[in-house]
Amino acid sequence: MTSNLTGRSVLVTGAAGCIGAWVVKGLSEIGANPIVYDLSENRRRLNLIMDDAEKVDWIKGDITDYNNLLQVIEDKAIFAIIHLAALQVPFAKADPILGTNVNVMGTTHVFEAARHAGINRIAFASSIAAPAMGENTYLDTLYGAHKVCNEQMAKVYWQDWQVPSVCIRPGVIYGPGRDQGLSAAPTLGLLAAFAGRTYDIPFIGPVSYVHAEDAAQRFIGAVLRETEGAEVFDMNGVVVDMERVLSDMNIVLPYNGVTASGKILPFPAYDDDGLLDKFLNVQPHRTFLDGLGETLDVFRYASQRQILNDQAISRLLS
Ligand SMILES: NC(=O)c1ccc[n+]([C@@H]2O[C@H](COP(=O)([O-])OP(=O)(O)OC[C@H]3O[C@@H](n4cnc5c(N)ncnc54)[C@H](O)[C@@H]3O)[C@@H](O)[C@H]2O)c1
Repeated sequence: MTSNLTGRSVLVTGAAGCIGAWVVKGLSEIGANPIVYDLSENRRRLNLIMDDAEKVDWIKGDITDYNNLLQVIEDKAIFAIIHLAALQVPFAKADPILGTNVNVMGTTHVFEAARHAGINRIAFASSIAAPAMGENTYLDTLYGAHKVCNEQMAKVYWQDWQVPSVCIRPGVIYGPGRDQGLSAAPTLGLLAAFAGRTYDIPFIGPVSYVHAEDAAQRFIGAVLRETEGAEVFDMNGVVVDMERVLSDMNIVLPYNGVTASGKILPFPAYDDDGLLDKFLNVQPHRTFLDGLGETLDVFRYASQRQILNDQAISRLLS
């Protein structure tokens, strides 16, 4: 990927997370300077996918602390922001006040700081949980409500202050680094197979799967050039039914210790409409089979480096 981000500092909020780790790796590969901004100092996801994770510029910062965020943006001469910090569905439900502070106020802080600092390259994560809200059969969640609010705020920041943004609504992320939350189960199932352990994926049915690296490439692509307006795109990747998840796993690693049971996830599973890929001019999403194979390669390499040892695998699968 050619880049006009070379030598530029890009703030990545929530970069200790799964998508964020891949964004940091991708930015490093194109010569940009990723600046991590996360509550967590844990580099385990980055270590899993990158050799030189220790060199990454890492700020332990809270997205709910506006003054600190603004200071970091000034100190680090931030050129673009990829905003991923969030509390996922179960965490927002467990603590609605904290959830709203992080998911909604945190996003307000990003837009407000960008407005003050004159930053006009912002990409941020919404979710398929946003269009799931309202008159349909899908589950309404506080998390989805937060994401709807963020999408609406982005429109107002463009309308009132011409702060442009690209909002991306990922489907279910899978691949190396996806290890938390219900929908992490297919990736954890593959990890269990890799370690020769049994694992039951606690849901069935079709899901829109997006490989974490494909997601990261799109968030990076969204700040590679200047845009106008408050664009919102779905990013659905590939729809795969659970039977095929299991059979694809068996192709990349023949093993019969991984099963699936439970209900269908209460979120939409639509084919990718290709609109984001067209907007960014990127290649289509990798196939699920390729994504699983590449995930396994990362597990093998991390295992050779002693990053993914028995203890780490037990912790992830517990
Ligand atoms: N994983 C998915 O399947 C999925 C699907 C749709 C949308 N998304 C969205 O994509 C984004 C990234 O997802 P992910 O899977 O990488 O998430 P993740 O849960 O792996 O990572 C989120 C990160 O945010 C950080 N964070 C939480 N509170 C913070 C705070 N107050 N200040 C700073 N950092 C804080 C966490 O420490 C964590 O590292 C999120 O906005 C999420 O809502 C994810």
